[in-house]
Amino acid sequence: MSQRPTFAPSDPELVVERVSKWFPVEQGLFRKPRQLRAVDSVSLTVGQGETVGLVGESGCGKSTLGRTVLRLLDPTYGRLTFEGRDITNLGVSELRPLRRRMQIVFQDPYSSLNPRMTVRQIVGEAIQIHKLAKSDAQEEEMVLSLLDRVGLRKDALTRYPHEFSGGQRQRIGIARALAVMQDAKGGLLVCDEPISALDVSIQAQIVNLLQDLQEERGLAYLFISHDLKVVEYLSHRVAVMYLGRIVELASAKDLYEHRRHPYTRALLSAIPVPDPEKRRLRIVLSGDVPSPLDPPNGCAFHPRCPKAKPGLCDKDVPALRELDEGHTVACHLPEEDP
Ligand SMILES: Nc1ncnc2c1ncn2[C@@H]1O[C@H](COP(=O)(O)OP(=O)(O)OP(=O)(O)O)[C@@H](O)[C@H]1O
Ligand SMILES: [Mg+2]
Repeated sequence: MSQRPTFAPSDPELVVERVSKWFPVEQGLFRKPRQLRAVDSVSLTVGQGETVGLVGESGCGKSTLGRTVLRLLDPTYGRLTFEGRDITNLGVSELRPLRRRMQIVFQDPYSSLNPRMTVRQIVGEAIQIHKLAKSDAQEEEMVLSLLDRVGLRKDALTRYPHEFSGGQRQRIGIARALAVMQDAKGGLLVCDEPISALDVSIQAQIVNLLQDLQEERGLAYLFISHDLKVVEYLSHRVAVMYLGRIVELASAKDLYEHRRHPYTRALLSAIPVPDPEKRRLRIVLSGDVPSPLDPPNGCAFHPRCPKAKPGLCDKDVPALRELDEGHTVACHLPEEDP
């Protein structure tokens, strides 16, 4: 059966429309569970072969969004369209063939790789689940070519995850994701902090590998990271999340050079800038991120916002609106373009 995508060349890889993921939190025996709004009405597209970076403080819902768009979690509301097909309500068996075109790479490959399996088994298993090889010999050939592609030597085959360094383990994780996706061009890879657990010297190698793979295979990435420099370097567009919502979305260049949301300003002000001429004042936010169980009224950022206006920002939720072409911001009082 042909695995060629049936969606139009101009279609986006992924369309996320007002997607929410709420987790029920028990309150005790006789009380109704409350809803933790980990992701709240997020809309986003990822184009074919595009990298969309996703940034924001810890707990703002990045991983939940990443898992929900792949249907590893069920959305509470909203609609997901993957390669032209509505996947919002597909069951596990209907999703299985689509897994060949959408996969995830995790931050800590060690906890996501079975310690009792060899690399041959780990990567081979992915090929078996999706029945991609006709024989054991062909499967081994596929595993070997994947290992070679991600920069691991042949002798990795018979070794176990603990025998590898962090960077090598991440290569195994990438090989496993690609094992499933190898039958077609394109597809979507959610990278959930794929380099955070690695030494700085190794990070660049993995970033380069991801970039090469994108070029070769036309992969689209949803790239989640705390490393704002790497996100700027890798992403075509960047979305900034705060408490379950996207507050700013623009091309990487626009977002980093013309920061319009006060939260984006604060977040990005932490990036070290070597050139003193270009240095900006570091903005330190007061207070912690509020709980998504009990989000503030109005703009969720208003209790920490240096510009918040009483009667406006604590009342109405700001909608995402386009301030410049392709640059959307959810703020009642966006910063002037510097
Ligand atoms: N299975 C779950 N049940 C209940 N709450 C959850 C669950 N998973 C995540 N949460 C909550 O949802 C919110 C968003 O979590 P998430 O892990 O998506 O954030 P994140 O942006 O990925 O954070 P980090 O940068 O630390 O990885 C947090 O308040 C978290 O505690
Ligand atoms: Mg996370």
